[in-house]
Amino acid sequence: MPGMEDEMKRIMARVAALLAVTAGMVVTAQAADWRAGRGLALRHCGKCHVIPGEEIDKAQPAAGAPSFAAMAADRERYNDEQVAAFLSKPHYPMQAIVLSKRDIANVIAWINHIREGRGGK
Ligand code: HEC
Repeated sequence: MPGMEDEMKRIMARVAALLAVTAGMVVTAQAADWRAGRGLALRHCGKCHVIPGEEIDKAQPAAGAPSFAAMAADRERYNDEQVAAFLSKPHYPMQAIVLSKRDIANVIAWINHIREGRGGK
């Protein structure tokens, strides 16, 4: 049956395409570096958001700025998509800091790292 062979080829092509997409997603997830995210947060966010594992009195938490532990604890509100969307624009009073897509992915990886109970470091 020649039709059958064509169908098989079509299915195999679809499976291959799907695998390629999945592999791409895994690479993207691995590329995010939570240590870099934590370092970035220490430099740019710790002024206003409390960083787990750091001296609290070093931070002068800005009114209304949630700690990173609080963000990690609230999976629903601070899910990857929400945080990425939020950080893609500077927030008041974080006007001066512009984050790249990679920075954002790294910060999210770090929040998820805290979330997994592996502490802030
Ligand atoms: C100058 C102070 C300041 C700095 C620096 C700052 N933030 Fe914020 N951030 C705030 C304040 C105040 C809020 C709460 C008000 C708001 O949502 O805009 C906030 C809110 C947020 C929220 C979401 C709040 C919500 O409940 O929706 C996230 C996520 C966040 N900041 C991440 C960061 C990250 C990551 C950095 C570092 C790259 C950073 N912030 C740097 C002051 C700051």
